[in-house]
Amino acid sequence: MAPTSRILFLVSLTLALATAPAAARSKQIHLHFYMHDITGGPGQTAVQLVKSPGPAHPSPYMPGAHFGDTTVIDDALTEGPDAASRAVGRAQGSYMLAGLKEPALMVSMNVALTGGAYNGSTIAVVGRDDVSAAVRELAVTGGTGAFRKATGHVLWRTAKVESRDHIVLELDVYATVPGAAAASDGQRQAGVVNT
Ligand SMILES: *[C@@H]1O[C@H](CO)[C@@H](O)[C@H](O)[C@H]1NC(C)=O
Repeated sequence: MAPTSRILFLVSLTLALATAPAAARSKQIHLHFYMHDITGGPGQTAVQLVKSPGPAHPSPYMPGAHFGDTTVIDDALTEGPDAASRAVGRAQGSYMLAGLKEPALMVSMNVALTGGAYNGSTIAVVGRDDVSAAVRELAVTGGTGAFRKATGHVLWRTAKVESRDHIVLELDVYATVPGAAAASDGQRQAGVVNT
């Protein structure tokens, strides 16, 4: 390449990089909300599906529980710790007591957002919830809508125990969404195949 054309090549390469569409850049999203796990009484949102025949659980955190106990949830998500504060979505999924000795739940749930800018989008969350730990970290394994191809993590802590049947968790969701994932949404152009 002659010196002049090499310079032109570098200039056009720099321009191409500088003008890369904003949509190609990944996006960081932080969400903060509260989750109400109500395992009995009026307004119940969590139902035990499996009362396990497994061994009794030794942890003081799990009185009366058995290894393998499994609960299905459709828990309300709210902006503030009060159940009456603005609803932002539902946590739909299950948790299973998967520690023989440790009070560790295997959690698998979809966070279905129903309010604000992310209404209609979902976040897939999977992870280990050792309820004896002050802060637990779970994985964001994907999502839909604004969270398509999301990766990240969730930090959650027990915010308050309203009653024996009503636990309030505080969640911080940190997700990275690749720009290309959102850009490909409905924008298939002639001659361009978005995979
Ligand atoms: C969320 O989306 C649904 C379905 O499109 C709509 O009915 C509802 O009013 C929306 N909620 C908010 C808070 O925007």
